[in-house]
Amino acid sequence: MLNKIIITFCFLLFSALVIAQHTAIIPAPKSLVEKEGFFELSNDVVISYSGEELHHLADYATAFIKEFSGLSLRNRNNLKKGFAKKISLSIISSVKTNKEGYFLEVSTSGINIKANAPAGLFYGIQTLLQLLAVQGTHQILCVSIIDEPRFPWRGMLFDNCRHMYSVEFIKKFIDQLAYHKLNKFHWHLTDDQGWRIEIKKYPRLQEVAAYRNGTQFIDGRKGVDSIRYGGFYTQQQIKDVVAYAASRYIEVIPEIEMPGHSVAAITAYPYLACSTASFGTGKPFEVRKVWGVSKDLYCAGNDSVFTFLQNVLTEVMQLFPSQYIHIGGDEAPHDAWKECLKCQKRMKDIGLKNEDELQSWFIRRIEKFINLKGKKIIGWEEIMNGGMTKSATIQSWLGVESGLQAAKNGNDAIMSPYSHLYFDGYQGDEKIEPLAIGYWTPLDTVYSFEPVHPALTKEEAKHILGGQGNLWTEFIATEDYFEYMVFPRIAALSEIDWTQKDKRNFDDFKKRLQTQYQRYARQGVHFRIPPPQIQTNYLSADSALAVTLSDPTAKGIIRYSIGENELSENSPVYSVPIKLLHKQKIRFALFYIDGRKSSTDYYPK
Ligand code: ACM
Ligand code: ZN
Repeated sequence: MLNKIIITFCFLLFSALVIAQHTAIIPAPKSLVEKEGFFELSNDVVISYSGEELHHLADYATAFIKEFSGLSLRNRNNLKKGFAKKISLSIISSVKTNKEGYFLEVSTSGINIKANAPAGLFYGIQTLLQLLAVQGTHQILCVSIIDEPRFPWRGMLFDNCRHMYSVEFIKKFIDQLAYHKLNKFHWHLTDDQGWRIEIKKYPRLQEVAAYRNGTQFIDGRKGVDSIRYGGFYTQQQIKDVVAYAASRYIEVIPEIEMPGHSVAAITAYPYLACSTASFGTGKPFEVRKVWGVSKDLYCAGNDSVFTFLQNVLTEVMQLFPSQYIHIGGDEAPHDAWKECLKCQKRMKDIGLKNEDELQSWFIRRIEKFINLKGKKIIGWEEIMNGGMTKSATIQSWLGVESGLQAAKNGNDAIMSPYSHLYFDGYQGDEKIEPLAIGYWTPLDTVYSFEPVHPALTKEEAKHILGGQGNLWTEFIATEDYFEYMVFPRIAALSEIDWTQKDKRNFDDFKKRLQTQYQRYARQGVHFRIPPPQIQTNYLSADSALAVTLSDPTAKGIIRYSIGENELSENSPVYSVPIKLLHKQKIRFALFYIDGRKSSTDYYPK
């Protein structure tokens, strides 16, 4: 009898493992019930949709299924009952989720996705696509899922100023946002090191502000190269990206920085600054070649600065249908304003006590202009200094306190503390990782972030719109490295933003991530391959160590070398714990199924 129980238990455990591998949905849904059996996907399955306004969703699903499984499904508006094996997409107003939620039912005879709005169907399709088995099979496990996001703001910042990326790459990134059920693409388009958006009224933004005559080395050497670097996106390209994102239920929020991070624009039009030359050096302005914060900023005492910014914003607002415009506001040292007669006169005329109040006045003036066009502003948390309006949304990045304070004051807040959600930080040991910015934001740190501060009441917590990951690109000159920094941390972000708090579990996430790695590989995403994990135990008899290595992806091959031998693809394959003698060194790396490898780690350090 006991044997029977044990066998049954083992069978159940095994089934659970198999199922867990099949579903492995990221971000984890609100409720998921796994059932017996499979729906068999084949070329005679038809996607049926309830109304022409859903045609684009059926096309999207058809194209993705083709890419993922090789099958060519047809789609039809309101396919009659009993006609064929079908995947049906329907809008049903009684579906009790928020506007982005959905029901997904997979049975042996068909698949039903229901939602009360098209965005919900879109996310139901994303889940269905994840359910498609990773390798070579067309079977979709029978499940019943009820799902909806926890937060309305699920975003990523893409810094395009420090480095340029192709439109094709930006679209690939947008596809991945959608795939992770994220819905905000914060596009950082203007900064000291380059102006990236075509503004027809100001051609020197394209001719001058878009290019720098050198770039700080990012390979550890000190100094600056002398290679002209830059570019910009035409208004046509921007419209194309915005439309591409919109068709994936993603809002693109442009960021036009002010009053700081504006050296590129000032170089093109020096009348925008407080003086005719760079603050503190007296040198002519130049599009900044090095990273860090500049003391040159837009003059707050000069009305033509506001004419310029309003003209720029007018063109920007015509390109971006987003509800929000991000106006920056961070890292603006006020040294130049303190010495500028025009800025000081402005303060005296209006009766402002200090430069923080001058910045607050500057931002409010711009906010008023943006509000008149029916849009709202977002600013980095520094816009709170000197006071802000009730309608502004802040982005908390230096920590979580500003977000907490904003929500207590009744302002909306987006949470992006650099301690957890800056993806330009290291995600592993600095000694073996490619060069990154100094901070440390590994996967488990990202995953542990909770956007709602415990000091907030339920009512105040409604002002926390969600969490946002930021990728600043000072050190990220290539598209492959960009993906290395984003993936898989974006998967952790998606669970912060989408998954209900009580469903978040890092150990479970790590298991599902093993499947997600395979999906990334199939999609040609250059995610970071984690190095093998190492565990060491002293052996009692001598001073040797037993070294145990494990593969976090469960799909790679671990290779190692002992002594001074360099590690290569011909190094021995790890299978059992290795005995390491005193003073011996071991190197090891994970070789993944997509032909790439992790960084080489070593022991002892
Ligand atoms: C920021 O990271 N300067 C917003
Ligand atoms: Zn000034």
